[in-house]
Amino acid sequence: MQFHAIKAGAARKPTACAIVGVHEKGELPEAARRVDRASGGAVTRVLKRGDFAGKSAETFPITGVRRGPAERILLVGLGPKSGFGRKPYRRAVFAATQWLAKSGAADATSWLAADGVPGIDDYYAARHAVESVSNALYRIADLKTGTKPPRPKLSRVIHVCPDAKLTDAQRGVRDGNGVAAGIALMKDLANLPANVCTPRYLADAARELPKAHKAVTVRVLEEREIRRLEMGSFLSVTRGSEEPPRLIVLEYAGGTKGEAPIALVGKGITFDTGGISLKQPTGMDEMKFDMSGAASVLGAFKAIATIGAPVNLVGIIPTCENMPSGRATKPGDIVTSMAGKTIEVLNTDAEGRLILCDAITYSRRFKPRAVVDIATLTGACVIALGAHYCGLFSPDDRLAGEIAAAGERADDRAWRLPVAEEYAELLKSNFADMANVAGREGGAITAACFLWKFTDGLNWAHLDIAGSAYLTGTHKGSTGRPVPLLVDWLLHGG
Ligand code: BES
Ligand code: MN
Ligand code: ZN
Repeated sequence: MQFHAIKAGAARKPTACAIVGVHEKGELPEAARRVDRASGGAVTRVLKRGDFAGKSAETFPITGVRRGPAERILLVGLGPKSGFGRKPYRRAVFAATQWLAKSGAADATSWLAADGVPGIDDYYAARHAVESVSNALYRIADLKTGTKPPRPKLSRVIHVCPDAKLTDAQRGVRDGNGVAAGIALMKDLANLPANVCTPRYLADAARELPKAHKAVTVRVLEEREIRRLEMGSFLSVTRGSEEPPRLIVLEYAGGTKGEAPIALVGKGITFDTGGISLKQPTGMDEMKFDMSGAASVLGAFKAIATIGAPVNLVGIIPTCENMPSGRATKPGDIVTSMAGKTIEVLNTDAEGRLILCDAITYSRRFKPRAVVDIATLTGACVIALGAHYCGLFSPDDRLAGEIAAAGERADDRAWRLPVAEEYAELLKSNFADMANVAGREGGAITAACFLWKFTDGLNWAHLDIAGSAYLTGTHKGSTGRPVPLLVDWLLHGG
């Protein structure tokens, strides 16, 4: 998919479709009036007949237009003028792309941001456009046999920006392309079934990155080396599996040489049965998404490397399955983490924290200026926040504030929950330094506090993406989140 930003004044070349926004009650933005005049009143004729109300994300195609910039004009609803902003704008771009994908149009010119979008600047207007188009065109690489629906012909979109904002819009297109590539990679990996997407498969996917991007290097550690690192907590999770674990270590050198990197740590459980603390069958298939944190780290690397962002980055992905077997870790077993702390595994289904604590400890060797772990960590977080916000945890107000702000700008939001000693105390064990679970209450918080106990002296944050990383039901599939948040934070910090 090719994307170009051009100034409103320079939008002369015709394309197969002009995308034009209309507010509720038929109010026309300046850009719509412009296309209307050029087409000899094609837009106003439709509105006069009362055929289009401008409801948010509604579409109305006008075809066979004889004059002006395109033979098709696609009207898209922007909702009430007073409420226009990022959300209805993104919905409009998404809906327009869905229509275009079914049409025969090979290219299109979007006038939706030509007058600016209230509440966001022209950089983000362009970025959100690229991301929304890409999300709307994304297709799961499914294993359905039979004839597939034809591929969309759409291959080029022109984004019209206000005349004075071309540079901003071009940056937005560039960064949007990177984010979109990262989102697509995350979705592709997370949507795969667990019999395909194994730890080995994730390692191979990581090894693809340096082929396309010279600033990325990858090292994959096998079980022998993980053992040598004394990652007893990580290894306790993989014990029940035939499939061997991997520790994937990525580096991206885009910043100043010697500058401390940011470390991203991603939970890579390629399937979570719960282990001996076996999960119930309903919905267990969704536990193939339990490597979404890992996939988001790979997605963020893909995005950052595509953009060529000036940062130094480290990615650490502990990846394995969580299976029951005669060799599996049992409730009550005590294991020793890489940090030396002993852990009583009271519930083998609380495995994410067991692999992450060792990966966080491993991150110390890079002397990172911040460590952010990303994990589908708890069902409790889904209960607390649902699907729209992910859980954000950090003892550091500044880091938490930066990440929350990045999520807001990226339209990939995170809501802060507490990290506090009162909750950490609930992880006391009679037999080891700590237990891996507390009670049901505040489950997302006690899970975060478990990790917190391994972050002494680190500037650390944790994202619980159990609710936001994938959709269930008819639209079951990966969302690509939190790639937009992570990339925004890495590009623009606070
Ligand atoms: N991978 C799950 C968390 C999860 C649940 C992700 C639902 C997405 C949707 C995690 O490993 C887990 O099983 N957590 C347990 C923790 C409990 C045993 C303390 C949970 O949430 O039930
Ligand atoms: Mn689990
Ligand atoms: Zn899990």
